Amino acid sequence: MKTDNNATLVLSSQDAQKIVAHFGLNEIMDSLIARLISTFRNFSPKQTDIPARAGFHYEKPSAGLVEWMPLHSLGQEVMIKMVGYHPTNPNGHKLPTILSTVSCYDTQTGHLSGLMDGVLLTAFRTGAASAVASRYLAHADSKVLGLIGCGAQSITQLHAISRVFGLEKVLVYDKDERAVSSFAERCAVLDLNLAVEPTDMEKVVIGSDILVTATSIDVGAGPLFDGLETKPHLHINAVGSDFPGKVEVPLSFLKNSFVCPDFLDQALIEGECQQLDKKDIDAGIVEVVRDPAAFSFVKKQRSVFDSTGWALEDYVAMELFMEHARELGLGQFIEIEHIPEDVKNPYDFMGQFSEQYY
Ligand SMILES: NC(=O)c1ccc[n+]([C@@H]2O[C@H](COP(=O)([O-])OP(=O)(O)OC[C@H]3O[C@@H](n4cnc5c(N)ncnc54)[C@H](O)[C@@H]3O)[C@@H](O)[C@H]2O)c1
Repeated sequence: MKTDNNATLVLSSQDAQKIVAHFGLNEIMDSLIARLISTFRNFSPKQTDIPARAGFHYEKPSAGLVEWMPLHSLGQEVMIKMVGYHPTNPNGHKLPTILSTVSCYDTQTGHLSGLMDGVLLTAFRTGAASAVASRYLAHADSKVLGLIGCGAQSITQLHAISRVFGLEKVLVYDKDERAVSSFAERCAVLDLNLAVEPTDMEKVVIGSDILVTATSIDVGAGPLFDGLETKPHLHINAVGSDFPGKVEVPLSFLKNSFVCPDFLDQALIEGECQQLDKKDIDAGIVEVVRDPAAFSFVKKQRSVFDSTGWALEDYVAMELFMEHARELGLGQFIEIEHIPEDVKNPYDFMGQFSEQYY
């Protein structure tokens, strides 16, 4: 993303909300799904370098992490998403579990060209990625969606998957009763004509055509379930497994499924794939999207999309929001970096201010 001057285009949370309000939730989600498909299809590691994310993991003051997810579009720009995961946030601080910002840099100069929210962006793109995987791997007649974990991500998971399948029913379970009882109200804005059925975990797993696991289960506490008879074509979008030792799906299910990670290198460290040998992993999402006919057989069998969250998805979402901001004239250009008139004199601003500043 280029800016015309030394300023940074800053999109506030309100700007992002205005963009969504202007275009509508469905149009934004549909655009993201379409753009993800085309980006996966055209992805080349020679043009876009995406190292696995890294960060700080800690136990104090509360268990959590702050990580950076970098992407280099060669010859163009660098994007870095910073993301924090603090599952005590909703109850302890009235904050989302996932807090995030996205910044991008001009690689001609290193200039910070853009800065925006990553919370709404993450929720949108994680939902869109599950919709893409489900479209290529789940049974085409899928009507029942199961959600284990009814937190922030569950809303965009339902939204995105409802854009691709004619859902009739959603089975929901969360260990926190408040998350279950507020779910229908939180997704009322989607105006979906379907039944929301709170039930127990077993019934969600057994009754679903497509299942999303999006829990903040503790490290070492997984899997969420085991030994349950599922529909023969159950497709799982495993969203919550994104940390070493944190898994949601049982090994027995993975072993009998077609396993498709978003980003193999990362999934082996922190996704469901950490439970598997590399040879047991079938194909990445890029391979599947590129050749749907070769993988159409998967729709009739069990499958797992191991969604750890890929910086490429963030890049696609960031570009969409920045483009819309420019179209609508939203955002503010702010000079954040210190760029003196005399670029070799960092002190050349001294003397410009009246005495009261000294
Ligand atoms: N794959 C990705 O790209 C991606 C993106 C965003 C978030 N995530 C992950 O998805 C998960 C959910 O994120 P969120 O923003 O919705 O968090 P959230 O805190 O809003 O919701 C998580 C929900 O999981 C429930 N839960 C925890 N343990 C459970 C259990 N054992 N059984 C049933 N429910 C349980 C909690 O009660 C809570 O309601 C997190 O682990 C997060 O790291 C992944």
